[in-house]
Amino acid sequence: MCGIVGYTGFRQAAPILLEGLERLEYRGYDSAGIAINQGEEIKIIKSMGRLSALREKCGGGCCAPGFVGIGHTRWATHGRPSDVNSHPHVSENGRIAIVHNGIIENFAALKEMLMKRGRVFQSETDTEVAAQLIDYFYKGNILEAVARAVRELEGSYALGVVCSDDPDTLVAVKSHAPLIVAYGEGENYFASDVMALVSHTKTVSYLDDDELAVVTKDGIKFYTPFLDTVSKEKFTVDWDVSAADKGGYEHYMFKEIMEQPEAVFRTIEPYVRSGRVDLSDMLEKDYINKMERIVIIACGSSGHVGVIAKYNIEKLARIPVEVVLASEFRYCDPIINSNTLVICISQSGETADTLEAQNEAKRLGAKTLAIVNVEGSSIAKSAEKVFYTKAGPEIAVATTKAYSTQLAATVLVALYVADCRGAISPSEYESILSELKAVPEKMRKILDDKSNIQYLAYQHFNNEDLFFIGRNIDYALSLEGSLKLKEISYIHSEAYAAGELKHGTISLVVNETLVIAVATYERLVEKTLSNALEVKARGAHVMGVTKESLKDKLSSAMDEIITIPDTHDVLLPSLAVLPLQLFAYYIALYRGCDIDKPRNLAKSVTVE
Ligand code: AGP
Repeated sequence: MCGIVGYTGFRQAAPILLEGLERLEYRGYDSAGIAINQGEEIKIIKSMGRLSALREKCGGGCCAPGFVGIGHTRWATHGRPSDVNSHPHVSENGRIAIVHNGIIENFAALKEMLMKRGRVFQSETDTEVAAQLIDYFYKGNILEAVARAVRELEGSYALGVVCSDDPDTLVAVKSHAPLIVAYGEGENYFASDVMALVSHTKTVSYLDDDELAVVTKDGIKFYTPFLDTVSKEKFTVDWDVSAADKGGYEHYMFKEIMEQPEAVFRTIEPYVRSGRVDLSDMLEKDYINKMERIVIIACGSSGHVGVIAKYNIEKLARIPVEVVLASEFRYCDPIINSNTLVICISQSGETADTLEAQNEAKRLGAKTLAIVNVEGSSIAKSAEKVFYTKAGPEIAVATTKAYSTQLAATVLVALYVADCRGAISPSEYESILSELKAVPEKMRKILDDKSNIQYLAYQHFNNEDLFFIGRNIDYALSLEGSLKLKEISYIHSEAYAAGELKHGTISLVVNETLVIAVATYERLVEKTLSNALEVKARGAHVMGVTKESLKDKLSSAMDEIITIPDTHDVLLPSLAVLPLQLFAYYIALYRGCDIDKPRNLAKSVTVE
């Protein structure tokens, strides 16, 4: 997934584009570039590598004077990271320059068609095909050429276009990829998301699929694919610029780990009134009592939230819950009907696998509820109902505060559904709600006492292979602990159901293999203890993660132990995830990894 940004106005465009790209770099960072429309020509400056390389190449922007331009930061899909494959891409005659986020699935056929008509290509990318195609249809009106060209495109795209014949104008168009336009005073913008522009404006409009926008310094006009004009609502985003910087922390990830208590509080507080959870604006009670099952669909860490939610919702509400990877859902002939509640979980709200899975679930008749962190995102707009988490902008590629707010949201859903179905006793309901409201304070206690975790990370940062094991919600949490470690420290790790390890994979356990035994769930702690002893008997080094009241039971069997405050079972993962996040963070820190922008990753994967 890539980041695109455009500016037209009275200020020099290049510095504004570079700043916007800096705020979008979390979307992809293997190469970057800008194009400045200088009238007679379009000046292109681009380079492989981080944005800092581009900034240096264009002297902070002063090597590219001009008031209109587009910019791009890349996560390679077609064509390896290189100078020539970097965006912006231009038509052969240099008249059209574009930036693109997405994948044009029929680019090969279009490229062949254009080459047969004499067009010569420079790069391996699908984006260059789009630039050449726009120029192929160009008859003097850039809007008409873009509208005509995109009718030939299949796949996903958010495009920003400049044309040397039209020096004041930007054209923007999207299909199945995020794109916003934004309003200034005598200047206007487009971008992949509002983060790029939050220091300039908070007034935005969201383009719907296939709509086009013509952006000039005097205003923004919107069109259908057949060039009928449409009007778009303006929104004011409630993020402030402080959310987009590190606030004095070394990494966004650490800042976001530390922000979790407040993020969880902001997420649950609006839905708890007079000691009751009220989600009635998302889920009608009649439907809750009619529905037959819940299917949770997501990717990555959001999928791990789904696995925990499955255990919690089934335990409290006694309704079947299935968790399906979004990338699998569409191709497994899912059995879905109007009595199925499909819950899609996504931080970005732009994950293509999850968006397409949600659309498939809707087509099959399901009721859809999306748990999303970004307002106005594609998954939020496509869902029937939305539960917005209040994590605020999450910049680090590895999610932390969004994960925790999603977890809190699913506990509210579990409580509400259980209560509506009469499946939970008043005392259990009150106990869980009381403990949920205490989660932020208990999180703060864990975060205040992180030195032991930092010390343990220092003992183990040279490991190259380790296991996370647990049972029930501890297993579900192990999935996230393992992914956090893998994605930022590049250490290979596996999360395994503790009871399953002995059925084969235990053959990989040798002397000093690090095994992290997550054992907070009291009902199964003896079982997990036995599994920990099994690996210890084979030479493993076992670190336990448990709750205070179980520490004595486990400490003799563990080489090290990390504890969390006691809480209700359904909330154990909300607390136990913090030590696992911190452990991964500190290990990556000691290994000198690029924590906020890990190799090969992007914050939101908007391609399938
Ligand atoms: C989380 O640390 C990863 N960056 C990744 O697994 C992420 O959770 C996944 O891509 C889903 O993203 P979403 O929540 O924005 O849909």
